Parts: sequence; C-alpha cells; structure tokens
Amino acid sequence: MQLKRLKLVNYRNYTDFEHEFNNLKTIIIGQNAQGKSNILEAINILATSQSDRAEKDSDLVFWNKEHSLIFANIETIDAELNIALQINPTGRRKLKINDVPKRAPQADLVGNFFAVMFSCDDLYLIKGSPSIRRSWLDSILFQLDKKYHKTLLDYQKSIAQKNALLKQSHEAMLSRKALKEQLDVWNTQILNFGTDIIFTRLNFIDEIKPIAKDFQRKISKDTEALDIIYKSSILQSSVFSHQDLLTLFKATLDKSFEEELMRGQSLVGPHRDDAIFMINEKEAKSFASQGQQRSTILSIKLAELKIIEKRKGEVPVLLLDDVFAELDENRQDFLLHNLPRNIQTFLTTTHISDIQKEFLKDAQIIEIQNGQVLQSECKLA
Ligand SMILES: Nc1ncnc2c1ncn2[C@@H]1O[C@H](COP(=O)(O)OP(=O)(O)O)[C@@H](O)[C@H]1O
Ligand SMILES: [Mg+2]
Repeated sequence: MQLKRLKLVNYRNYTDFEHEFNNLKTIIIGQNAQGKSNILEAINILATSQSDRAEKDSDLVFWNKEHSLIFANIETIDAELNIALQINPTGRRKLKINDVPKRAPQADLVGNFFAVMFSCDDLYLIKGSPSIRRSWLDSILFQLDKKYHKTLLDYQKSIAQKNALLKQSHEAMLSRKALKEQLDVWNTQILNFGTDIIFTRLNFIDEIKPIAKDFQRKISKDTEALDIIYKSSILQSSVFSHQDLLTLFKATLDKSFEEELMRGQSLVGPHRDDAIFMINEKEAKSFASQGQQRSTILSIKLAELKIIEKRKGEVPVLLLDDVFAELDENRQDFLLHNLPRNIQTFLTTTHISDIQKEFLKDAQIIEIQNGQVLQSECKLA
C-alpha cells in the first residue's frame, strides 16, 4: 500500500504541510528539532491511532490552536482511501473515511492503513520499562485486530473504575461486603476483557517468535538464538487455552483481593504484563551487547512487516526514524535486502551521508526546516 499524499494542518510544528509522494522512497532530511519525526509520527497515527511520543492528544496540536488535521490519500491494492482525522486538545477526535463521518474515531481508524515504525528510540524496547513493550505489542495488534483495540480500551476503562473504587474505599467506609460486591462488578469485566487481551498477545508472540528468530539467526550468522516470552502477572509458562487463562486469571484476582485493597490499585492483569527477549537463553535486557540488541530490534521489525503483509494482504509502509546512524553497514545491508520489493519507505536523517548509496537510488529527498519544506528534489542516482 502507498501513501500518495499527506496534508498536515496545525499538527505539531506544521501549520500547513502538503506533499505528494510519487516515489517509493522518501528521505526527509533536516537538522534536529525541525519536524522530521513529526511527519513520521503523523503517518504512524493513521495506522495505530496512537503516538509513542505524545502523552496526550493536546501535544499533537500546534501550540494554542483549536485542533490539528491529518489528511491522507492512500492507495491500497484494490481501492483508494481518503482519511481525514481531526485531533482536539481535549482528546476528542473526529474521523472521516472517504468523506463518510465515522462514529468511533479511534476504533474506525485502525485496520485501514498499515505501518511499521522503526525509530532510534526502539532500543528502549529491550532496555526500557515493561510499558514500552506493552505499547509495542498493542500498536501491532491494533492494526492486526480491530477487536483487540476495542477490548483494550474497554479493559482500560474497567481498570480505571476499579482503581477509583479502591482509592475511595478507605474514605467511603464501605462495609467489606459492599466493597467486595462493587469490586466484583469491575473484576468480572476485567476478567473477560483481560483474558482476551492476554490470549491475543500470547498468540501473537507465538506467531512472531519463529520469524524474528530466523532473521536474527541470519544476521548473526547462526550465532544468536532469539526467544521472546510473554511474562504475565497471571501465569508463568506459555501455551494455555482461553478457558485455562480465564480460570487462572480468576484465581489470581481472588488471591490478590487483600493486597489490592491495601495498596489501593489493581495489581494483576495484562496492564502489568511484559515481554522478555532472550538471546542464547540469557535475558537480552541485562546480557546482550548493543550490537545484539540492535539485531534483535531489526529482526522484530522485519518480522512485524512479514506478519502484517501475510495477515492483511498489503505491504505496510515502513517508517525509519533516525535509525541509519544507529545501524552499521552490515545491519543496513541486511535491512535493505530483506524488505519486500514494492515497500514504501519514509526515512529521516540529519546527515545524508549516514545512508547507503543503494538506498538513495530513486528516492525523493525533502528538506525540512522549522516546519516548512525548504526544497524537494527527486534524486535519480
Ligand atoms: N504541539 C506542538 N506545537 C508546535 N511545535 C511543536 C509541538 N510539538 C512539538 N513541536 C516542535 O517540533 C519540533 C520537534 O520536531 P521533531 O519532528 O521531533 O524534530 P526532528 O526534526 O528532530 O525529528 C520542536 O521544535 C518542537 O518544539
Ligand atoms: Mg527526530
């Protein structure tokens, strides 16, 4: 699939950006803090509905403006898609697809356009906190499975309600029985939504594991065996049926009642889970070299591409944000030679010299300064 045209109005530091992308490769060049990543972020929002860099929607709106707009024309295998997304500082969004207003702007956005984002921040995927890995899992699963997106939103609402109740419980002086009854209402929902979430994540890990493992084996010339394990607050080993998960989750919730009450927050469920990367049976977070970690991220990103392509029948758009400076020639080569031939790629860099010559071939180069396109040239090397 291809993004043919993008227009941004009052999005981050762009008051008015409009560009047509006629080449498969677009290189966005500029100094730091000029707005390169902002363009990739906007494209990624069209695919995942979320941004890893923004805490809230107001971050995405040009300071003090009423709202921001992202317009995109997309070509899929058999259709043309026009997406218009309005983002408001309040968090309320509006969405039109092919001029038809959608009732659920978050849920109706995902599943139309597919992207894989690979940014220099992705090294935190291994080193960083569990929330980064959860959000990695979520951003792919949102694209693959519309139902997962809805279930996660519902789950998060139930957790927020339960937390509010746990916090109030001390002041409200509810009897234990009344409190337990009220908590049970939320726990029933948490149990149902949460089991679906864990089940979907477990299946996804099972799917991505062999593919990523194969890439890592090839990059490392057979010296690195990658493994990915879903670490849940409700189970220790993998391969469970949906029913097993439900039973285990219920038992864990029951067991945690006293502690949750004491600490005033929900302590078990997919919002506490994690994924662990292992290389040669050792946890990558603590033992892998920087090079091994880079190979792991690269393997995972290539595996994401493969899975989206296989499941959706469309080659997703690849967003490479400042990664080439982080990848040595070997890994750059590996990336370039393992991409689908017709993939559309957007790449940002401060220095064109960081990018392999081969990649510059047939690329369109856009130079950005302070939220403006300085110049755009088509490089035919
Ligand atoms: N909501 C916003 N309104 C206006 N400017 C913003 C907003 N959010 C970020 N910026 C500006 O965007 C710039 C950073 O853009 P970014 O795309 O991250 O730069 P880079 O070119 O380094 O990738 C900074 O100058 C920052 O002040
Ligand atoms: Mg950047």
